[in-house]
Amino acid sequence: MKRSNGRIRILCVVGARPNFMKIAPLMRAFRSAPARFDARLLHTGQHYDEAMKDAFFRQLRIPEPDIDLGVGSGTHAVQTAEIMRLFEPILDQLAPDIVLVVGDVNSTIACALVATKKDIAVVHVEAGLRSGDRRMPEEINRVLTDQISNLLFTTEAEGANNLLREGIAPEKIHFVGNVMIDTLIANRADAVPAEETLTSINGFQGDVSGFGVLTLHRPSNVDDPAVLRRLLTTLTGIAERLPLVFPIHPRTRIRVKEAGLSSLLDRPHIGLVEPLGYLQLLGLMSKARLVLTDSGGLQEETTALGVPCITLRENTERPITVEQGTNTIVGTDPVKIQASFDEVMANGGKAGRIPELWDGSAAERIAQVISDWMDSQAKAA
Ligand code: UD1
Repeated sequence: MKRSNGRIRILCVVGARPNFMKIAPLMRAFRSAPARFDARLLHTGQHYDEAMKDAFFRQLRIPEPDIDLGVGSGTHAVQTAEIMRLFEPILDQLAPDIVLVVGDVNSTIACALVATKKDIAVVHVEAGLRSGDRRMPEEINRVLTDQISNLLFTTEAEGANNLLREGIAPEKIHFVGNVMIDTLIANRADAVPAEETLTSINGFQGDVSGFGVLTLHRPSNVDDPAVLRRLLTTLTGIAERLPLVFPIHPRTRIRVKEAGLSSLLDRPHIGLVEPLGYLQLLGLMSKARLVLTDSGGLQEETTALGVPCITLRENTERPITVEQGTNTIVGTDPVKIQASFDEVMANGGKAGRIPELWDGSAAERIAQVISDWMDSQAKAA
């Protein structure tokens, strides 16, 4: 990236689906201040399908990546190593002032690690989230990325305490709110009406007067056939009382097939569809009676929408969605899932409130902090 006076050369990295809604408002904030920021976008290629990538770039009006590493799928080691190997010469060529990474996917840690070893400042957006569960690959990615970041932007106040406990200097930490909710607020009016999506699902016996949304993709839930069978059996039982739309992640589709469970999902109360676009899912979630999920982002989006969320995990790295929002953590025990579902059906679920600074302006705050920080670095030099 060519040096030009006073401009901050910032290379923004995305890799996987949950990164795309986080980068959209940031690219907008940086590119709306071209005198201050020279922002480029790099996609590692961790997610590459039309449904997992292109639909999001189009709907969220994310600029086409300036660089696409095209790494694709692989084991964690292969995927992470391949990203690092291909990212290094890009940094040599562009020599940015800052590498900005978001979230907790393999692309996040891979690019942060390459950048810091080249003495390039690393900015981590969505820092400080901790599930306390080191068996989750994302938890490892979070802890390590935060350790090597120069600026850490948190989405909830508790995030700072997690970071301070791990020895991160307080002056690096900035509580700015949630860029994912920036995207939700910016796109809410353009969401595809739930009716439209529901009627497009062949043979689905659910309509806008009563349906839920289900997503499932965590390795801990889908990779073990016994766990997957138990979960799907419970969820198909629930679907008989509240029809469920199930946009199925590619990983889960493969595992369902391998485990011989496809017939479990072949019933009119389950609306099995390919991964949905952002605007389709947003429209559906807004009108759903509840969302059942093991996703991180959906826990936050349901809280922002005021829709009850039943999280099919034993823990969450986003505790504010439980303390203040609409989220309930139930794990994978059929009895607990059923009890939580009955509670939502009987009483409508938790009302919740919108957490502090989830107001649609997190990206602008981040741009301002980065700008001020670069000034202070220049003065100190
Ligand atoms: C990754 C993230 C996870 C995030 C999830 C959202 C890590 C460690 N995990 O998990 O935090 O919640 O994305 O989706 O980075 N595949 C396709 N098309 C694609 C991408 C993947 O078919 O565009 C299939 C491949 O078979 C691949 C599998 O999905 O092997 C899993 O993809 P991968 O990137 O390894 O991890 P995710 O499970 O998607």
